[in-house]
Amino acid sequence: MQQVGYFNHISELNLYLNDYTRSFDKSIFIVDTNTKKLCLKKLSVKADLIEIQAGEEFKNLDSLTHIWNELQHFGANRNSLIIALGGGVITDIAGFAAATYMRGISFLYVPTTLLAMADAAHGGKTGIDFNGVKNLIGTFNMQPKIFICPEFLKTLPDRELKSGLAEVIKHYLIYDKIAFNHFIKNTDNSLFLSLIQKAIEIKTHFISIDPFDQKERKALNFGHTIGHGVESLFLKSEHRILHGEAVAIGMICESYISFKRNLISEDDLQSIQNCLLTHFSLPAITTFDEVMKFVKHDKKHTKTINCILLNGIGTYLLDQQIDEDDINSSLNYFNSLVQ
Ligand SMILES: NC(=O)c1ccc[n+]([C@@H]2O[C@H](COP(=O)([O-])OP(=O)(O)OC[C@H]3O[C@@H](n4cnc5c(N)ncnc54)[C@H](O)[C@@H]3O)[C@@H](O)[C@H]2O)c1
Repeated sequence: MQQVGYFNHISELNLYLNDYTRSFDKSIFIVDTNTKKLCLKKLSVKADLIEIQAGEEFKNLDSLTHIWNELQHFGANRNSLIIALGGGVITDIAGFAAATYMRGISFLYVPTTLLAMADAAHGGKTGIDFNGVKNLIGTFNMQPKIFICPEFLKTLPDRELKSGLAEVIKHYLIYDKIAFNHFIKNTDNSLFLSLIQKAIEIKTHFISIDPFDQKERKALNFGHTIGHGVESLFLKSEHRILHGEAVAIGMICESYISFKRNLISEDDLQSIQNCLLTHFSLPAITTFDEVMKFVKHDKKHTKTINCILLNGIGTYLLDQQIDEDDINSSLNYFNSLVQ
């Protein structure tokens, strides 16, 4: 199972990392252009370096091929260690490279975004986007070590920081009403370590009862059925939308569908949408057909569109069938809030 280490200061992380990497022949950082510039210089570990372009649009086969080429070039072998230093794009692609290079080599994550610290680095899902579909190719790589140091968040742009909050809020919505209520009442969200720890506790609960996403773990997909459709739509557009922003839109839509099915009250719906709209500046969705196309192509769906719905705040229902009308009406509702 995964192991998580928490470090309040980079100096403590450096001490631990230097010690940990000694047991490998070779360590190799995988970074993106931003984490190379802003995060790598904070670390004192001696290692080779593989760099890819920053951004979701580079979580693709070209970047992966580049990583495989570089691993070969550096002579990486079964006794080498990959250190993924970055956000969810880096942990996803580096984890996939580690799972596939020489049938699997050791790796650890040093997540540098809130989203990766609280969510993406945990649970062993790795992968890349393919043919315009998010996370179509990937593996479960279940043994990561994850070293968390919130000091990296100091350089993270505010919009990216907020994007990470979406997954944190999602964890609260599906599993912890008290944490959600506490979160909406406390505007000082600078206590990132406690936010992150709570979110990780919740994610770890789901991973431990259902490591391979067969049943309960699917609850973590709340907001992602419609959210992934929205994210894929914007991947093709000039306007950028962040993963957390797409998930925030998805959560509003899927909460609305929960409300329409009498699973949550109007008050609950309003506190969810108020919470999300306070933290995020979200664009209206103009092309419903395109979102629908992506939702239908999403790997998680076969003939029917299945979705996680809330059953009150803090609980959920798995595998709820939704149809095009549900999605259209929820997108209309979402637009009415932001236009
Ligand atoms: N595997 C999973 O279980 C899982 C779960 C949730 C999300 N994800 C994936 O995570 C990805 C999104 O992750 P993300 O939001 O971290 O995106 P990201 O990795 O693209 O990082 C966001 C931006 O912040 C920059 N950055 C990273 N750390 C920084 C720092 N400390 N200072 C300044 N800039 C920094 C990056 O270069 C990038 O430009 C998506 O691809 C999503 O599919 C995976």
